[in-house]
Amino acid sequence: MKDILQILEDRRGEASLGGGQKRIDSQHGRGKLTARERIDLLLDEGSFEEFDTFVTHRCTDFGMESQKPYGDGVVTGWGTINGRQVYVFSQDFTVLGGSVSATHAQKICKIMDMAVENGAPVIGINDSGGARIQEGVDSLAGYGDVFQRNIEASGVVPQISVIMGPCAGGAVYSPAMTDFIFMVKDSSYMFVTGPDVVKTVTNEQVTAEELGGAGTHTKKSSVADGAFENDVEALAEVRRLVDFLPLSNREKPPVRPFFDDPDRLEMSLDTLIPDNPNTPYDMKELILKLADEGDFYEIQAEFAKNIITGFIRLEGQTVGVVANQPMVLAGVLDIDSARKAARFVRFCDCFEIPILTLVDVPGFLPGTTQEYGGVIKHGAKLLYAYGEATVPTVTVITRKAYGGAYVVMASKHLRSDFNYAWPTAEIAVMGAKGATEIIHRADLGDAEKIAQHTKDYEDRFANPFVAAERGFIDEVIRPHSTRKRVSRAFASLRKKRRSLPWKKHDNIPL
Ligand code: HXC
Repeated sequence: MKDILQILEDRRGEASLGGGQKRIDSQHGRGKLTARERIDLLLDEGSFEEFDTFVTHRCTDFGMESQKPYGDGVVTGWGTINGRQVYVFSQDFTVLGGSVSATHAQKICKIMDMAVENGAPVIGINDSGGARIQEGVDSLAGYGDVFQRNIEASGVVPQISVIMGPCAGGAVYSPAMTDFIFMVKDSSYMFVTGPDVVKTVTNEQVTAEELGGAGTHTKKSSVADGAFENDVEALAEVRRLVDFLPLSNREKPPVRPFFDDPDRLEMSLDTLIPDNPNTPYDMKELILKLADEGDFYEIQAEFAKNIITGFIRLEGQTVGVVANQPMVLAGVLDIDSARKAARFVRFCDCFEIPILTLVDVPGFLPGTTQEYGGVIKHGAKLLYAYGEATVPTVTVITRKAYGGAYVVMASKHLRSDFNYAWPTAEIAVMGAKGATEIIHRADLGDAEKIAQHTKDYEDRFANPFVAAERGFIDEVIRPHSTRKRVSRAFASLRKKRRSLPWKKHDNIPL
């Protein structure tokens, strides 16, 4: 018995060394942690239960039969984050470059299947040279199996990808189908074709970092949702994110203990809106003042900053926030902001996370770039996402809510549950100046008349009361009581049920 136990210990010791000390040192030398160190940081201490420690590949080509490292380049299993179950796979770059063989893929598929059956998120840590070249088509088949599971798990359990090294070629499509992608600055990259191929085909000269680094994907492409300084920070942020999310679509989001009065009044909000309607203010200030303990978890903070998306808690319950940001492009809706917000709204809806929408929107951004880029279809994504959402929705209009953008931003017409407006709200087809120039075109040469017409229009429409008279706004509320009103609204909606007509699936304008 003793000998057998020793054999087990020896084998475990060998498995834990992955590709050996030299390669571990090299990994550390690049500022990267090993696959196991990452899991240790991600999960609660001592909670990791490993599967398939002793799996090896079955390839016999190119001398592979003589190198059969335990685990085959990926560490898989489950554990807990603040006591809640998650499944995890972590690719081990020290073993054959973390490359994906048939058995490597099978290990990932096994924990994905368990995650779906048991209703717990999947967190994938990617650090891989891609398809195991020695295995050829077996490797591609393995990727295909993972892709299919990503698709089937979508909307069933949250899927989070953390890119902590190379992720190139078709391999990028597994993270691409997950709910959130986090990247580490300077040590991770994602691209479909690398710099060498790009140079050959398009004659562009670009580094891996420029082509697919964390900066590129969080600021330009919006492929990634967050960029972090190093592995430690990225993993700590995954833990924070998981705390906001339900474990699966079978449960409601977690309700955490909270230490903040839901009735807290914020008198400073009464002066948040500047006197001049064209002066910007920071919508984040409102979000932070509404949130329990001022805790806001922002998603895609560096992309399309004219709209803000992220999670807060109200009375301990997770709430997704979508908010126009008047500080950037006056908070206008455009292709990027509509896409960003639409995806976020759909995530919240599939995982039963209520949505709070804060509106100050002057309309859609005009111009050929927008029209040629398909702002019609992209804007429709957000409209569609709100219109099909069945989760509780509460909307607060702080200032402008003009034209089509008013309707899009979780208006009553899209069956939002509670629609509040501050007294400073202006709900109209457009701003007073633009409206006057159209309906009083004949007076355009007469500055005095135009000023009077503009004032008349403002007096009539630049307020929330016309909409309130029609029931399009449920109540005009005082800004300082917004946290209280919104918290009570969500509390009243906890048992909300709404269903859509039966369909196989919808056909969102992609
Ligand atoms: C087998 C691989 C490998 C791979 C790396 N290794 N990638 N082994 N298959 N795909 C091995 C190396 O031989 C080396 O082994 C070890 O991993 C570390 O690699 P290095 O090259 O020394 O590391 P580094 O200099 O950091 O370069 C990393 C790299 C490079 C940029 C990822 O290894 C590379 O270009 N690899 C090939 C990438 C690739 O073409 N993959 C296939 C893409 S197609 P030793 O024993 O020396 O330590 C694809 C399709 C997926 O992925 C399709 C899905 C549908």
